[in-house]
Amino acid sequence: MMDRAALRLILLAVFLISATSDPVKKKQDVDIYSFYINSTVTSRYSTTVITSRVANTLNESQEIQFEVKIPKNAFISKFRMTIEGKTYDGVVKGKEEAQQQYNQAVSRGQSAGLVRSVGRTLEDFKTSVTVAALSKVTFELTYEELLKRRLGKYELLINAQPMQPVADFKMDVHIQEKPGISFLEVKGDLSTGDLANAIKTTRADKDAWVTFYPTRDQQTKCKSCGENGLNGDLLITYDVERRSPKGEVVVSNGYFVHYFAPSDVPRISKNVVFIIDRSGSMSGRKIDQTRLALLRILTDLDEDDHFGLITFDSEVSLWKRELLKATEKNLKNAKSFVKEIRDRGATDINAAVLAGVDMISRHPREGTASILILLTDGDPNTGEINIEKIMANVKEAIGTKFPLYCLGFGYDVNFDFLTKMSLENGGVARRIYEDSDADLQLQGFYDEVAVPLLTDIQLKYPGGTNLTKTTFSLYFNGSEIVVSGQITDNSVESFTTEVIAVSKGSNVTYQDTIMTKDPSDVPPEDEDFMQRLWAYLTVKQLLERQVLLKGQEKEDENKEALKLSLKYQFVTPLTSMVVTKPQEGEVEVADKPKEGEAPARPAAKMPHPVPYAPGFWLYQSQGGLPGPPGASGVPGVLRDNGSPLIQRGGRYHTDPLQSIPSYAVAHDIRPAGRLLPGMYEML
Ligand SMILES: *[C@@H]1O[C@H](CO)[C@@H](O)[C@H](O)[C@H]1NC(C)=O
Ligand SMILES: *[C@@H]1O[C@H](CO)[C@@H](O)[C@H](O)[C@H]1NC(C)=O
Ligand SMILES: *[C@@H]1O[C@H](CO)[C@@H](O)[C@H](O)[C@H]1NC(C)=O
Ligand SMILES: *[C@@H]1O[C@H](CO)[C@@H](O)[C@H](O)[C@H]1NC(C)=O
Ligand SMILES: *[C@@H]1O[C@H](CO)[C@@H](O)[C@H](O)[C@H]1NC(C)=O
Repeated sequence: MMDRAALRLILLAVFLISATSDPVKKKQDVDIYSFYINSTVTSRYSTTVITSRVANTLNESQEIQFEVKIPKNAFISKFRMTIEGKTYDGVVKGKEEAQQQYNQAVSRGQSAGLVRSVGRTLEDFKTSVTVAALSKVTFELTYEELLKRRLGKYELLINAQPMQPVADFKMDVHIQEKPGISFLEVKGDLSTGDLANAIKTTRADKDAWVTFYPTRDQQTKCKSCGENGLNGDLLITYDVERRSPKGEVVVSNGYFVHYFAPSDVPRISKNVVFIIDRSGSMSGRKIDQTRLALLRILTDLDEDDHFGLITFDSEVSLWKRELLKATEKNLKNAKSFVKEIRDRGATDINAAVLAGVDMISRHPREGTASILILLTDGDPNTGEINIEKIMANVKEAIGTKFPLYCLGFGYDVNFDFLTKMSLENGGVARRIYEDSDADLQLQGFYDEVAVPLLTDIQLKYPGGTNLTKTTFSLYFNGSEIVVSGQITDNSVESFTTEVIAVSKGSNVTYQDTIMTKDPSDVPPEDEDFMQRLWAYLTVKQLLERQVLLKGQEKEDENKEALKLSLKYQFVTPLTSMVVTKPQEGEVEVADKPKEGEAPARPAAKMPHPVPYAPGFWLYQSQGGLPGPPGASGVPGVLRDNGSPLIQRGGRYHTDPLQSIPSYAVAHDIRPAGRLLPGMYEML
């Protein structure tokens, strides 16, 4: 089938060709003489500053680029350029205002750049500035992120790719955690080969320092490095000591954060139903990886868990009509079923999820945790296809009884829809990237929800106000519940937390009172971090809730998120950073790319399509297999010299001659289409 996977193959081919036929000319008339990355983590809140100092070694002025990759979850909070003693600060503005400024610059004929791009875990920040002959420029970028605990650890990911070996390269990481650091590990491409020797880790009880000072020579010697120097990530993983099951409370300058992650609680057995898309688009590696992941997940089920399996395309198939206990015999049986899952047909998400809800609802829930997991790689395109109706149906059927987790496989899914549907039903949506490790991503997600410890968790703070989210349906081992807020009366010397939850078969309460003015406390390096942490978490949660809200409430929360983004100068989906350059009126706008958007794809050149049947054209799909009759493809357009010719309205027809599998057929929407010979672009 000519789906996006096939398209990507074609694109890859196009890239390879252009890369070999047009090698990039290497100019070394720019000298990055110093590159520092300085990251401080205080109570899981990380602030990273990247400073790059560059000299124009040319006898004439030239454009110098600064490009770095930052974690997706982070907010950029500062950008500064210093040229000839003058500083130029990026200013965070509301999106519309920034866009206006950008448009004005464009209409004045001044160059204006727009920065946006997104990868799997990192996103790009890119800018450039014209630097006079033999002059220097300093770029400084700051970003902030609250590290999330997953599978028992926090991960601080730092990317370094200065584009050339740097004489003075330094990476300094300082982690300060009041309860103590229980383990710390440094991984990633940059810790391989010769570079491993450049990493030094120092640990005290509550602090850890990681320094990475590779020499110029070492910078070319790691797995992913080369003559352009460092290129890769350093991944620092750690966890903190958890002496009290009541959690850790940190108070600073009128704000607090409560980290709650008890682990000495017995696991609650779970009821889990997997709802697996087996539509035609799952064909090939995706369905192979899904089978592989399911087989491993089944192996990991605990014997007192109950599970159900549903596969769907336009039809819904149940492995068994009800959930069965994860006994050896049942698992063996289920594995045979999984091994036989084949791709075919269309995508009826509505019927499949409702079947899952029905199945899990009929199972006794007392003292257990029930979870629905939907895996899909496409939009609903058969049965009920109205997204609003599907969401209403699912919400009504689930009735807040258990969470629905949605895993969106690849870029053809409507990720907004999946996000909304899971949030509405107490779960989360996660993207599974089409890659060689997709099976591990699937299994990783399952591992995160494999061990429920508490349900119906409520957190209360009598002395707190403006709290972030305080109710959670489930708490899983290895994760962490985080609540932050403001302290109502800062003169009070104690602060009380209370957590009420349901543990295996009993209600539990955790109550704690801490003294807020403990004289033995060493203040953190940055006393404002707590307020910024609160703002970060509040903005993240307000933005997340946007998909759930309507009308006035939605508008109010949007305004609040915008207000906080502006106050703390966070580049969020509601704001942009405007960088005004030394050149008269030139501006550049940095946006936060939206999660779920496919990376920008250049158009692929298509060989000339040939007439196939009235209204249809046959064209080479270069390795992609044509879909079954009537299967849907990616909506797109074939273009000839930029003007749309064929709307590939989503409907594909199989070449009846199955012997030429590398051809697909597109529907011509023009009244009487006639194609001219030549190459066609497909978007
Ligand atoms: C990193 O930041 C800390 C705290 O702001 C500062 O003390 C230190 O000098 C910085 N290190 C570098 C290499 O810039
Ligand atoms: C650099 O520019 C100056 C002034 O234009 C000129 O006199 C000098 O010869 C140039 N040097 C080189 C190495 O090109
Ligand atoms: C939860 O995780 C901790 C540490 O990873 C482990 O020691 C503990 O046994 C786990 N609890 C359960 C119930 O599996
Ligand atoms: C809570 O936040 C609102 C809006 O940001 C603010 O006006 C109010 O002062 C805050 N409450 C407290 C107690 O600081
Ligand atoms: C837990 O508390 C709820 C509400 O207070 C109560 O209805 C329920 O019976 C309690 N469950 C147990 C096991 O004590």
